Amino acid sequence: MAEPRDETRTRYDEVAQLYYETFKDTLREHPFDRAMIDAFAERVKEGGARPVADIGCGPGHITGYLHALGLDAQGIDLSPEMIALARREHPGIAFSLGDMSALDLPDGGLGGVLSRASIIHTPPERIGPVFAEFHRVLAPGGFLSLSFQASDRTDRLAWPFDHRVAPAWQWSYDRVADLLRDTGFAEVARLVGAPEEDPVRGFHFCHLVMRKPGAENP
Ligand SMILES: C[S@@+](CC[C@H](N)C(=O)[O-])C[C@H]1O[C@@H](n2cnc3c(N)ncnc32)[C@H](O)[C@@H]1O
Repeated sequence: MAEPRDETRTRYDEVAQLYYETFKDTLREHPFDRAMIDAFAERVKEGGARPVADIGCGPGHITGYLHALGLDAQGIDLSPEMIALARREHPGIAFSLGDMSALDLPDGGLGGVLSRASIIHTPPERIGPVFAEFHRVLAPGGFLSLSFQASDRTDRLAWPFDHRVAPAWQWSYDRVADLLRDTGFAEVARLVGAPEEDPVRGFHFCHLVMRKPGAENP
């Protein structure tokens, strides 16, 4: 049986161009997403000039948005086709291949990590190392912006769902926040979109902003 990660990589390679064309204007169409990303970017900037990584960046449209907001943004993704597309569409921005569970980044170098709709492809039993990596690469005081298809249930951590591209899970937002706290993050803010905001599946979409405590922000 194929590794879920290999299947995810192959499937996103196959749909990269279509994904880009479908979602390149997504932030214009989703004002709540935009508001949370704007607030995250503002907080990161207040913390200094440290770089930001968009992890599971796909074709780089959110990375491009962070760059336009004045952040030193880079994108990382599992899919070579997504990375090629991102480089083509955003020639001034650094994009690299990588896996969110083993990032090729030094400890404590980033002011912000953003990961939008990308942890959904990680099997729940493998999410711990991903959150540990997000924590490791952030500087003390750095911010994590994490968003994902979500549920208000708490009886499980995640439920598989029929994603059109790759194996995917809908996550209990309370339990994800608990796990992130267990990893060492403090919660700063959350926004939970109503199911009616998702006309396709009727899922909640949750944005969590977390902070790695620092000397000046214990
Ligand atoms: C639904 S798309 C989201 C893309 C973009 N963040 C957005 O908001 O439109 C999910 C992306 O996550 C990437 N991805 C999935 N698992 C990953 C992993 N373990 N490491 C890095 N990227 C991953 C996929 O290749 C895909 O480009």
